[in-house]
Amino acid sequence: MDKTIRFKLNGKEVAVETSPERMLLWVLRTDLEHTGTKYGCGEGYCGFCTVLVDSKPERSCSLPVSKVEGKSVLTIEGLSKGGRLHPLQQAFVDNGALQCGYCTPGMIMESYALLMRKPNPTEAEIADALEGNICRCGTHKRVIAAVRQASGALKMKVVDHDAR
Ligand code: FES
Ligand code: FES
Repeated sequence: MDKTIRFKLNGKEVAVETSPERMLLWVLRTDLEHTGTKYGCGEGYCGFCTVLVDSKPERSCSLPVSKVEGKSVLTIEGLSKGGRLHPLQQAFVDNGALQCGYCTPGMIMESYALLMRKPNPTEAEIADALEGNICRCGTHKRVIAAVRQASGALKMKVVDHDAR
């Protein structure tokens, strides 16, 4: 039976009428037209669908929407502001850290979560955090360089998604 589920999406209150069992990924993409979050394996293994729920990375393909009721969800669409890329996104561009780009939203959200809990990670710590994020195009080295750039040179600005 459908139910109204309310949560914050990139700082704005949203309400969706849906089955509580539906996976968050499909609610984001279909009901809320936020298609930046990608579908890959659908089983929690590839990381393409990663979003942050109350600042923690979650696989949205495997997370029933009922689990985010009353919580804050941050997706790739929530990072840029005023038409300007977030410094972490810009670092991906600067370092050519994407090829087809399909894994990129998940990589960025996972990296974002890492930088929130550890603002200046080592290369090994970045590699470790991104271990569960697959890239079919083999960009991992450049992704690590991008995250290092964002953490060191650019001093990452954490999006205050409650204030937006
Ligand atoms: S699509 Fe969610 S982990 Fe692969
Ligand atoms: S850039 Fe193509 S899958 Fe990662």
